[in-house]
Amino acid sequence: LEVVTRQLREGRIGSVLNQVNVDVLNELQRVAVEESRLGIPLLVGRDVIHGFKTVMPIPLGQAASFNPDVVRDGARVAAREAATAGINWTFAPMIDVSRDPRWGRIAESLGEDPYLASMLAAAMVNGYQGDDLSAIGTIAACAKHFAGYGESESGRDYATTNIPENELRNVHLRPFKAAVDAGVATLMASFSDLDGIPASANEFLMRQVLRDEWKFDGFVVSDWDSIRQLSIHGLTANDRESAYEAATAGVDMEMHGNAYSNNLEQLITDGRVSIDIVDTAVANILRAKFRLGLFDHPYTHPEKLPAIGDDDAFDAARQAALQSVVLLKNDRQVLPLSADGLESVALIGPLGDAPYEQLGTWIFDGDPELSITPMHAIHDLVGRDVDVRYVRAMETSRSHSVDGFDEAVAVARDSDAVVLFLGEESILSGEAHSRADISLPGAQAELVKRIRSTGRPVIAVIQAGRPLTLSNIVDEVDAILFAWHPGTMGGPAIADLLFGLESPSGKLPSTFPRMVGQVPIYYAQGNTGKPATPEKAMLIDDIPVGAQQTSVGNVSYHLDAGFTPLFAFGHGLSYADFRYDQIAVSSAEFELGGTVTISADLSNDGDVAADEVVQLYIRDLAGSVTRPIRELKGFQRVRVEPGQTIRVEFQLEADDLAFYGRDMTRAAEPGQFHAWIGGSSEAQLRTSFRLV
Ligand code: NOJ
Repeated sequence: LEVVTRQLREGRIGSVLNQVNVDVLNELQRVAVEESRLGIPLLVGRDVIHGFKTVMPIPLGQAASFNPDVVRDGARVAAREAATAGINWTFAPMIDVSRDPRWGRIAESLGEDPYLASMLAAAMVNGYQGDDLSAIGTIAACAKHFAGYGESESGRDYATTNIPENELRNVHLRPFKAAVDAGVATLMASFSDLDGIPASANEFLMRQVLRDEWKFDGFVVSDWDSIRQLSIHGLTANDRESAYEAATAGVDMEMHGNAYSNNLEQLITDGRVSIDIVDTAVANILRAKFRLGLFDHPYTHPEKLPAIGDDDAFDAARQAALQSVVLLKNDRQVLPLSADGLESVALIGPLGDAPYEQLGTWIFDGDPELSITPMHAIHDLVGRDVDVRYVRAMETSRSHSVDGFDEAVAVARDSDAVVLFLGEESILSGEAHSRADISLPGAQAELVKRIRSTGRPVIAVIQAGRPLTLSNIVDEVDAILFAWHPGTMGGPAIADLLFGLESPSGKLPSTFPRMVGQVPIYYAQGNTGKPATPEKAMLIDDIPVGAQQTSVGNVSYHLDAGFTPLFAFGHGLSYADFRYDQIAVSSAEFELGGTVTISADLSNDGDVAADEVVQLYIRDLAGSVTRPIRELKGFQRVRVEPGQTIRVEFQLEADDLAFYGRDMTRAAEPGQFHAWIGGSSEAQLRTSFRLV
């Protein structure tokens, strides 16, 4: 601290990170403001990714809510809790589009779809920053990692990415544009290499796209030491060259490393880096400090902010958890469980009472003491008369020992209902925690089989940081609630869903492959010249022995996995019985400058009220560059009462159909479009229109 204080006085430090003691931070601000030459207050950065003390579901889980309000509220709570500690800048939202569940950081992302990620990115920025960045309880956001990190080869963290400009602009850059339009104060350069030019030295990204095209006037920070890593990438020979590359590319601030502080002065003296570059970077950073109001109120007064973990925070965490859980399957309506007449319930598995694990990755400050686990919540919900028996059965989600399985089987056999709590511990996803095998780790599949052998209906609640391959257990269980890492209030949300106090309403923001070898598999794929159909995709066991290779009649699929995922993007069941019908389009043709309305009836034929996330997909049948077979263009979360039919409408403008074409300009191209409305990316109810 002494060193920091001295450097502060000397004007050598403009921001600090990873300090969360408010008294220390107030003292550092005092030194900066009162004792440094220019009296400029400090930025205080921290990874507040999905909550500070009160933890929301992991961002991938939040994305499953398809609810920008819930996502905004979670960020708002995170901001004000972090602000009590003196933090004024968070390294969130993470908005890398990822189509690779092996990548550990998919947990921090908003999933595979650029439209969904864009809507939620804007919501998160609004949540952190509010309408007024200088207000008490708002903090600067940082959209990261610019850009392309989600494409890390083979899902291995930090691996190379090669993304053609067409794909970069039509997919990966879109959420960043949305964040910039929402007023995000800062961006972070990615660790990754992009087409041979690592992001931290990528002038095309930082200058052409971000400044010239998008007119961004905030600042860009490097990732942790990512400027010095330019030499490790093999782009530069030493730190001086790295500083040169990053500064000229437009990285305004270096996080952690000292390539800038050790080298920029010399680079300027040598005339290699112009002082304008430094002036611009300084102005960009100062602008953020002004917008934060730091010159007017550099100090934190925690007493002016709501208490940590108050009702508002817990409500936000509970709502987010409730809306993020996805009911993947529910055979014979084994869910919801009824508490009526229930005498005993067996809760089995390593994640039923794991307060730390349910918080998920990147929770520096998250407080496991605040967590309410499923076991505790179920106890509370069913009351004293029901015997709740918890058998952990495995020490951790990775354990290979089956020693606890006999007890688990005995308890399951003897209980009225059985719920398995499976998944991944939090450390199995997140930064640098990629997996090549994304099935349930350890002996969990064996545990499922053993419980299955009791003949009882098997309900699995899975908490994980990524989509998992569940092919080896999906037929062994009757129901699956996929809860991601649901955060502080995961337990109550899961209990309410298990017992039907609420209906599941989450939808998958990320495709679930059958096998890891299908990755990348995502709904917005290209059609190819030889698309598969069920008739044409013959599985390995049906291929005649000795058959001759031919080039006639072939299609694009895997012999051992087919061409469909296990669970599609947008999939998620409900306790209600939803039916879509009567799709209509306002006019078969519409003009540039006009709008078209696509609508459908949604009926609830079931007997419980529930939320449904209605989704609109389109397909542009012919473009100057090929277009995906489906693209999400709208979603609405609506509540439908039993017996009720509502009409859901989506309005599209030509701009909503625009994409970057052959010449890399963005435009909507006239032609024929299909449109589907339904409850997942596999919706069948279709209409068409023409843009003229
Ligand atoms: C490295 C991570 O890539 C980034 O997301 C994070 O914000 C920084 N470390 C700071 O902890």
